[in-house]
Amino acid sequence: MDTLTPYVVEEKVLDEIVRKYKGSPGVLLSTLEAVQEANPLKFLPQKTLLQVAKKLNVPATQVYSVATFYSFFNLKPQGRHTIVVCRGTACHTKGSRELLNSVGQILGFRYEFDETEPSYTTPDNEFTIRTVACFGQCAQAPVVAVDGVIHSYVNAPKLLKILKKVKSSSYAKDQSK
Ligand code: FES
Repeated sequence: MDTLTPYVVEEKVLDEIVRKYKGSPGVLLSTLEAVQEANPLKFLPQKTLLQVAKKLNVPATQVYSVATFYSFFNLKPQGRHTIVVCRGTACHTKGSRELLNSVGQILGFRYEFDETEPSYTTPDNEFTIRTVACFGQCAQAPVVAVDGVIHSYVNAPKLLKILKKVKSSSYAKDQSK
């Protein structure tokens, strides 16, 4: 069974997006961007890529190359929150590798970060963890961004505090719905 099926953007939403961008310059890029945004898990499942190819009448290989070329396209489901750990030299020497391993442990599942994997998402789709080459804030290493907010001089206890805050604010939001 295709476990990603529940996250595929509905056909009528897809049609609206295709209609909106048809004929405009950069139609494929704009369409893929909008379709990814419409997916609650912010990614482009294989089925969606094939649908876009068919609807725009472009080869599926072209759609795949665009989706895989640009780093802002995700081919895997993304979490509600994003944690980006810097892997630049300054951050590495100040322990960013250990931080990456701590993230998995703090989030409740043991995970040795695999350097060959660009990112991973927790099984509950709450967090996506990725790395970056440098934030340009090397003097404040190690640097971690959580939901776009930069945190400096991060160590495991500080990271634990930040993630606890993020988790509790998301819990509060869910309760108020
Ligand atoms: S190496 Fe981490 S911010 Fe530059």
